[in-house]
Amino acid sequence: MTRRHDFRVQPGGSLHGRVRVPGDKSISHRAVMLGAIADGVTTIDGFLEGADALGTIGAFRALGVTIGGPEAGRVVVHGVGVEGLQAPRGPIDLGNSGTSMRLLTGLLVAQNFTTVLTGDESLSRRPMRRVTEPLVQMGARVESAEGETPPLTIHGGRPLSAIDYRLPIASAQVKSALLLAGIYAHGRTRVREPAESRDHTERMLGGFGYPVERGELECSIDGGGRLRASDVDVPADISSAAFLLVAASLSPGSDLMLEHVGMNPTRTGVIEVLQSMGADIDILDPRTVGGEPVADLRVRYAPLHGVDIPPAVVPRAIDEFPILFIAAACASGTTRLSGAEELRVKESDRLQVMADGLAALGINVRTRPDGIDIEGGHLQAGVVDSAGDHRIAMSFAVAAHRAAGPVTVTDCRNVETSFPGFVDLARSVGIDIELEGEGA
Ligand code: S3P
Repeated sequence: MTRRHDFRVQPGGSLHGRVRVPGDKSISHRAVMLGAIADGVTTIDGFLEGADALGTIGAFRALGVTIGGPEAGRVVVHGVGVEGLQAPRGPIDLGNSGTSMRLLTGLLVAQNFTTVLTGDESLSRRPMRRVTEPLVQMGARVESAEGETPPLTIHGGRPLSAIDYRLPIASAQVKSALLLAGIYAHGRTRVREPAESRDHTERMLGGFGYPVERGELECSIDGGGRLRASDVDVPADISSAAFLLVAASLSPGSDLMLEHVGMNPTRTGVIEVLQSMGADIDILDPRTVGGEPVADLRVRYAPLHGVDIPPAVVPRAIDEFPILFIAAACASGTTRLSGAEELRVKESDRLQVMADGLAALGINVRTRPDGIDIEGGHLQAGVVDSAGDHRIAMSFAVAAHRAAGPVTVTDCRNVETSFPGFVDLARSVGIDIELEGEGA
């Protein structure tokens, strides 16, 4: 039998040091996409060299774009202009990456060739109707598998007309897909959201000289323009920093600096929730880099208490709930989350897989269709299955650091999708973690 790819963690100790976690995943994807359809050469620094963003590079190479690197975080994209993409020779495999698939679908419906997009087992279960439905309203033709899941066959060569679309759920992926299609559509495409999702696409389009008009919970784009190549400096991913923010908050004696972290206000919900639980996080030297807010974060140990997480913060912390649940498990009192049914359709069903893992380590939890209640307690030694979900694997590695005995987290291979070098970086700041199995 093939050996699994597991984390083995010995608990105890404080976290110290000064580190920069890998580049922001959302921004890395978008920089390649916009660079590819821009006129001129885009240089990206701080690029996330993880499987998901590398998958986006592979996709655009398959679409005829010359892309150099990544080399020490630098990627050079030789833009082909809005009309310059070419038919790929075969299906494009996007691995585990929902962002690549949903955003690319928006771009590819507008091309004059047909593309097939595939993904791994997890991506092949994820809902695509949310993006295909509005694109079909614009005139696109997309075939999907049963249940409107991947693989997707995207038929190009169809004229698109702009729509005014109200998103049923806050989703940056759907919003971005519609903005990308909107570049090619006849007329003005308008997207309205029930709550604000991350706005990296709107910001970066502006940086590439393509105006996006923005109002409260809405944005609009006129079709028919062009993008000008623009260099992109990718900040460290706050979603990756979150694991260390929680690990240091929970470990007495810790004092850790996280450098150059992206602080886009549509992404900082995790800091607000942790601060409301009593976390000691200082936001230092706030600055703007390439249109995105950035800061250094100093985090020190502080006792945490449970909170009711306001539903309004959910879209702004959507990827950080697995690690926030670990903070909740170690806090005094109960933490309650509702309005978070989206967590059930991420890389795994994050409400259920987290609930199962916390229960396996002796924590009392109750799930609801749209949320979870977690009673703070004492984490026990044990074995937890991450279900192949990168963020769940890293969350339980942090939990293990605070457990009463050794913890094994299984099926951690996909950590490479968003946080390459996680084990080495975690070790360097004081977490006693080892990789067991293939590649160990
Ligand atoms: C992302 C948007 C979010 C997030 C995902 C990345 C993006 O998904 O969960 O990890 O880069 O646009 P939704 O937009 O579906 O909420």
